[in-house]
Amino acid sequence: MKKYILALDQGTTSSRAILFDKSGTICSSKQLEFTQIFPEPGLVEHDPMEIWLTQLTTAKLAMSSIGAQATDIAAIGITNQRETTVVWNKNTGIPIYNAIVWQDRRTSDMIDELKSKGYADIFKKKTGLVLDAYFSGTKLKWILDNVTNARKLAENGELAFGTVDAWITWNLSNRRCHVTDESNASRTLLFNIHTGKWDEELLKILDIPANILPEIVPSSGEIGEASSGLFGDRIPITGIAGDQQAATFGNMCIKPGMVKNTYGTGCFLLKNTGENALESKNNLLTTNGKRNYCLEGSVFIGGAVVQWIRDGMKFIEESSEIETLATSVPDNGGVYMVPAFSGLGAPHWDQYARGLAIGITRGTTQAHMARAALESIAFQVSDVVNAMRSDSGINLSALRVDGGACKNNFLMQFQADILNTIVERPTCLELTALGAAYLAGLAVGFWNSIEELEQVWQVERIFEPKMADSERQELLSNWQEAVKRAQGWVK
Ligand code: G3P
Repeated sequence: MKKYILALDQGTTSSRAILFDKSGTICSSKQLEFTQIFPEPGLVEHDPMEIWLTQLTTAKLAMSSIGAQATDIAAIGITNQRETTVVWNKNTGIPIYNAIVWQDRRTSDMIDELKSKGYADIFKKKTGLVLDAYFSGTKLKWILDNVTNARKLAENGELAFGTVDAWITWNLSNRRCHVTDESNASRTLLFNIHTGKWDEELLKILDIPANILPEIVPSSGEIGEASSGLFGDRIPITGIAGDQQAATFGNMCIKPGMVKNTYGTGCFLLKNTGENALESKNNLLTTNGKRNYCLEGSVFIGGAVVQWIRDGMKFIEESSEIETLATSVPDNGGVYMVPAFSGLGAPHWDQYARGLAIGITRGTTQAHMARAALESIAFQVSDVVNAMRSDSGINLSALRVDGGACKNNFLMQFQADILNTIVERPTCLELTALGAAYLAGLAVGFWNSIEELEQVWQVERIFEPKMADSERQELLSNWQEAVKRAQGWVK
């Protein structure tokens, strides 16, 4: 009798493995942080071997800590930081360069050139994405153009490209599977979200050889097997999804109109638009869920601003301390922070924006800065929600949330106040991993239907908006002014 689904959640700053049982309860969870490599301002890399080894280690530890054997596990579901680009040699299994992380800005010039040649529309129409250095396509081109011999090796069919899901699956399957799912493919600038295939025209524009690409497999279905050498027996791999699409499923935003926001390193707000790939007029992205489409607002710095307050500014020792510090003052004291550390994502899409704090006086304290940092997360989400309102003409009735930073009660209340919308916080906040587990579990009959899964989702707390309209308007108008001033800074 299989007792668990093993979810592997390979995020931007840590690898995590969670064993879920049939009731969706976390039976075991292990997490390991890994090195963030910043070779120059604006560049962010990871060591792909460290990604794989931390991921494998967490899986083994999660299993051994409760005495789980491979035979107890019905299936593995994989979810991952999206867009991050890995290229490896198929013969040796060794990456030819570090993973170029989604936050990395090295291809901003390449993007400008594509825009100046008039390619923005064709990419938008076919991929649902705006041209930005965020996505994998130009990162892959950069590796092929800049790493010695890379093009030649690619021409000889010796290289494989993948987002992190593909890299993990390749290693889990002992190099047998070179695959990715549609939700990850939809973040590469190379995948046509209408046909469900890699797009030859886009590959040609970016000069990417098709033989380097992974095969596209369903997000839920028979994908491959983790080799017995790793866990003592083979385990089927039956779920793959990019982390934000997985969280949308984990948060059971399965009907058109439902919206979730995940407060992770960044903030990613996804609205289910059903079977229609709705094109945004407000710089949101059209992206693939489980052959459902979503509108997405990607905010690059969310919870990461708290890490910066902790590690960069050293105002606090633990991230959880920020709530006490921020609420030790009655308001932000006129301070606004725009954490455009890697440029601005939706809806502004400014590769050249950089971080800014404004309104500082002699009376400004660490507490005001901490409060401004937390408020900046909610303001950015509000900008995305407003873009969605303009696109659909429909007001948001409730926002479902998940991710580490939504444990922060001040942030959740401020979010409800700024949006003037109810915020619903569920009991389980590990919805990215749970979403991947659901995809894997549905494919092997561990769970039988989505209706069964809907029972698992329970609300833990509802935050009702309490702020006066005049206060909200003033805060938002000051925020908008600060955002304008952060733009175009490094151009
Ligand atoms: O698009 C980037 C996103 O997938 C990263 O997610 O949770 O690692 O911040 P996270």
